[in-house]
Amino acid sequence: MELQRVSVIGAGQMGGGIAQVAAQAGYQVVLLDTTEERVQAGLDRIGSLLSRSVEKGKLSAEEREAILGRISLTTDLAVAGQDADLVIEAVVEKMEVKAEIFTRLDEYCPSHTILASNTSSLPITEIAAATRRPEQVIGMHFMNPVPVMKLVEVIRGLATSEETFQAVMAAAERMGKTPVEVNDYPGFVSNRILMPMINEAIFAVYDGVATPEAIDEVMKLGMNHPMGPLTLADFIGLDTCLYIMETLYEGFGDSKYRPCPLLRKYVKAGWLGRKSGRGFYSYS
Ligand code: NAI
Repeated sequence: MELQRVSVIGAGQMGGGIAQVAAQAGYQVVLLDTTEERVQAGLDRIGSLLSRSVEKGKLSAEEREAILGRISLTTDLAVAGQDADLVIEAVVEKMEVKAEIFTRLDEYCPSHTILASNTSSLPITEIAAATRRPEQVIGMHFMNPVPVMKLVEVIRGLATSEETFQAVMAAAERMGKTPVEVNDYPGFVSNRILMPMINEAIFAVYDGVATPEAIDEVMKLGMNHPMGPLTLADFIGLDTCLYIMETLYEGFGDSKYRPCPLLRKYVKAGWLGRKSGRGFYSYS
């Protein structure tokens, strides 16, 4: 099945990026968020990223206009669902929110529509169970920042059909990404390995082993990581990091995945990293 129309649910850091790469790939895109301000802010961010590409000579001004022209905005889930061949959901990492959206999308979308989630760690099988089309539900886990990062983890739920899987692999490739197939276990591959490392770095701050700057420097210079784990945590969002650790902890029932109390404290304080202006570092 050749997909033409892609709807993206959630116009935050991930949803905006996904809408951008989909429009760049030539798809007609509908971008949705809860309010007109939020969805417009998402489009504005895409506009400025594309302007930067024009300034760098990577894109012509006409191409920029054409890409933006392929994105329409809505706050109505029925509108986002009604003509979509593929819906990619990128709202907050909470099962009850995602499940409700998938149940409603199942009602609004045509019978052929594939429903994908950009979840970082929540079970695709459980999201699929909120619909009557579990064979057409799949995980499509993009990396942040979406326009830059090559990987898409494609996660098969228990019931995901081969046809759905192949269509989504092809869509990811058309968006210029390299899809990698994984099975549905908490955290998939990427966050099962990455997030315990970030959590351990937070424990190192909590235990007073070293400052955030020192920890990041050790991992950058010593392990050749392009950025330290605490800089990365601020970039991902500390709320998202906490949700993922909770999913791993609950999913495996193993104390090695317990979220660091300092991570909980920062999230309760509203220190969510870059997006709130403060996390392990200050961004004012
Ligand atoms: P974000 O906080 O930047 O954006 C989430 C957006 O969803 C917000 O604009 C919010 O208004 C909107 N939203 C919330 N509830 C909604 C609803 N009921 N209907 C429509 N829109 C709603 O979060 P971010 O970072 O974009 O994360 C979104 C998803 O992507 C999460 O599932 C996260 O785990 C996943 N993800 C995040 C990555 C990261 O590095 N931040 C990387 C890969 C996946």
